[in-house]
Amino acid sequence: MYDLVLSGKLVDPIDGVYEANIGITKGVISQITQDPIEGKKLKLPDASLIFPGFIDPHVHLRQDISGKWNYKEDFLSGSKSAAHGGVTVAADMPNNPTPATTPEAIVEKINLSKDALIDILFYGGVLGNLDKLKAMSTLVCGYKIYAGETTGSMTIGLDEIEKALRIISDTDKPVVFHAGEKLKEILDICENYDVRVHIAHVSSIIEINLIEKYKKKMQLTCEATPHHLFFSEKDKEKIGDLSTVNPPLMPEKDRAAVMDALKTGTIDMLATDHAPHTLEDKAKGASGFPQLDTYGPFVSWLIEKGFSLQRIAQITSFNAANLLKINNIARICNNHLANLTVLDMQAEKVDKLYTKCGWSPFSDYEFPGRVVCTIYRGNIIMRNGVVS
Ligand code: DOR
Ligand code: ZN
Repeated sequence: MYDLVLSGKLVDPIDGVYEANIGITKGVISQITQDPIEGKKLKLPDASLIFPGFIDPHVHLRQDISGKWNYKEDFLSGSKSAAHGGVTVAADMPNNPTPATTPEAIVEKINLSKDALIDILFYGGVLGNLDKLKAMSTLVCGYKIYAGETTGSMTIGLDEIEKALRIISDTDKPVVFHAGEKLKEILDICENYDVRVHIAHVSSIIEINLIEKYKKKMQLTCEATPHHLFFSEKDKEKIGDLSTVNPPLMPEKDRAAVMDALKTGTIDMLATDHAPHTLEDKAKGASGFPQLDTYGPFVSWLIEKGFSLQRIAQITSFNAANLLKINNIARICNNHLANLTVLDMQAEKVDKLYTKCGWSPFSDYEFPGRVVCTIYRGNIIMRNGVVS
């Protein structure tokens, strides 16, 4: 008898797509078979697609010890928003009012996140803290370096970047860059160090071409956001004040190139850059889009646009799990964590949101599919749009 049994089309990043029954015991996948199995059956729509739970390597959940930005989002509301969108693991960025640049600040965030419904991992920031980077390494999933200005003002220069790389290359953690205009200079420096480099929110043809070239000579991965894949400059008028985001929305030819690079492999993963700001803050120029609630519906749009299901499993979990070095996850395999996201290609309008900031750039948009169910360690944390 299994604690939970699911049947449907399984989508694995390596084995591809096949029909099977999954048996879950104590939060772990313990059986995958074509034969009927006994246990508490989860009723799903006939054409359900069962993916490894989505993993988002780039979110801003805002909460820290200062509590100053809790009105935008906190770990509980952000994790509900994630569960709603089918996300079971998310990695949180360090640009808080109390920047996550010391072991203490990171431990505080870890403690504050204990009530979250999903796993939350933390990046350590680099800003005048070279002496602390090594000590942070066991607490963080990676380091984040801002080489361009954005929310939180954590930009550092190329000299400090190089000094940080020397230290980070002695850890096993990756370094994520908000590269801004400095991508080429950054890659030229990183090339000399034995370090895993990840470029956040790739949005232009120039970046794609550079990354393609440097991937041949170093350990390099990158991500794209739903907004840079879906919107382009011409949508700015429609979205109005709300369209401010960093990097900005780009011309249509760049948007199309980002889609193509994510579909074919130069861009490795989808990352929301979930950046909740209230409408009042947006009116004052805050940059960023809340994106977690709509993650799964957005994925259904990628499927409609011709992404293979196996590629979807790679860009929504497997490649991020490799970046963050999370084991026994992101595959539908025996002895892997029972984190599963079930999609159904039934059109649905975006209406209810769990993010505290209360708005979405996709409000009222009808996506071609929906998340039926999110399972985290064998527990159903979202079903038919309701998070519990
Ligand atoms: O638009 C953005 N918002 N880009 C970033 O890099 C940061 C983010 C935020 O924290 O609000
Ligand atoms: Zn970000």
